[in-house]
This record gives sequence, C-alpha cells and structure tokens, in this order.
Amino acid sequence: MKNPMSKLPIGILDSGIGGISVLADIIKILPYEKFIYFADTLNCPYGNKPENVVKSLTIRAVEILSLAGIKSLVIACNTATSAAVNEVRRMFDFPVIGMEPAIKPAVELGLKGKILIMATPLTLKSKKFNTLVCQYQLLTEIVPLACEGLVEIIERGRAQGQEIEDCLSRLFSPIHKENFAAIVLGCTHFVLIKKEIEKMAGKEIVVIDGNCGTAKNLKTILQKENLLRYNTDEGKPQIPLKAHIKFYITANESEVMTKYTQLLQNEGIVCV
Ligand code: DGL
Repeated sequence: MKNPMSKLPIGILDSGIGGISVLADIIKILPYEKFIYFADTLNCPYGNKPENVVKSLTIRAVEILSLAGIKSLVIACNTATSAAVNEVRRMFDFPVIGMEPAIKPAVELGLKGKILIMATPLTLKSKKFNTLVCQYQLLTEIVPLACEGLVEIIERGRAQGQEIEDCLSRLFSPIHKENFAAIVLGCTHFVLIKKEIEKMAGKEIVVIDGNCGTAKNLKTILQKENLLRYNTDEGKPQIPLKAHIKFYITANESEVMTKYTQLLQNEGIVCV
C-alpha cells in the first residue's frame, strides 16, 4: 500500500550549486517526483567553517525543509553530511540519505595505484571520513587532498575557466600523478568541473563521483518505504524531462536561480 506521504516532495540540500549535480542525476531516475532544493548561498562555502557551525546551519536548513513538508531528504553535500547527518537522523522521522566520498566503489575497481580524495578541509578532518578511510586503508593507499578555494570559484560559475585551471594546478602541484589510479570527487561541487579535473589528471587516472550511487540509493529507500510518487513503470518520460522543483535560496536568489536552471537545462531538464 502507498504511504500517504508519497505525494510530498523530496528535499535536497547543499551549501550552493553542487547539489544541482546530484539533483540532475536523481531526476533522471525519478522523473515523476517533486523536489524542494535548498541552497544556503548566504553561508557558502561550508567546507572552511568549524564543524559545529556547519552542523547548526544544516539542522536549520532541514527544519525549514521539514516545515515545508518533505517525505525524504538528500543531503547533497559531503561536508554537511560529515558534520550533521547523525544528528539530523536523530531529529527527523523521514528517511535521510547522506553523501560520503565514494572510496568503496573506487577500491572495488581493484586498480593498481593510490586513490586521491578531493574534498573540502572540513570533510577531510571529520571523524566520519577518517573512520571510512580506516576501513579501506589496508587494501589501498588513500591520500586526502584538501581543496581550499575551489568551491568558491565553482560557485562563481564555469565562466571562471582559467581560474579553475590555475586553482587545480596549484592543488595538484605536490601530487605525483604517476602513483595514482583513481581520484574520488568527495564534494558535490567538484562534479560540475569533472571534465577539467579529468584533463588535469590525465588519461591514466579514473575520476569517480558518488552522485549516481546516491540517486540509486534514494530510489531503493523510497521503494522500500512505499514512498514513490508513482511506480517507475509509468511509461517513458518525455525528453526534455519536466521537473517540479521549488527552490529555497538564502542569498542572491535571482542570479543563483538563473545558473541552476541553466545547469539543469544542459542536462536535458526543464523546470516547470
Ligand atoms: N558541496 C559541498 C560538498 O559536497 C561543499 C561545498 C562547501 O564547502 O560549501 O562537500
């Protein structure tokens, strides 16, 4: 039997634009769902703030989404997940899907060489991340790379091509690329510049992100809880996908909205 909450939207939360890359992947496998996207642009970036600050900001955002009415939540931000997911799960009744750097899929590729984890300074400092690394450290050498400054450039937009290239060159300067087999994008913002990172890494290195895994995980959980809005065998959705998204943006709303809708359009998704 369908859960009476199934008609409610799914909440997606990030400090800014990074979660849009996750939202796009979710819409592609759950095209009949409705969404509320919360971007805390007023407080972005989260990754260079103290953990307790990010925890409070995340809880406040989830409270707003909860009041708006959601049936489940995706914390489309590795940093907010590492700081607050346990507390959010304790406080709210709906299913909460967090994100963590995709170390497991990277290790499971069984490649020869080290794995580089690109993430924010706060994610890399967190207990959650370090516990995750401990689980896999015996199998492969895992090297964290704190990407100071990169989120801010991505927030300003892809037009900052040269700035992105310069920042990546600076971040990669101490890295001996020949020792690495894979790079894990442990920040949803970095998925938006995956092409640039692949170019910097070179052909020999595989670049992995956790977006698709998160979208599949969400679908499995909604199915299990009878929370899907429609059965997914409703028939093939029309392209471009028409997505019902309500946005909560904490600063620069109109400028930010233009960027987000453009980004979704590039992925074949129009907002209705
Ligand atoms: N998008 C966020 C993540 O996945 C972090 C961005 C920030 O520092 O605010 O970690």
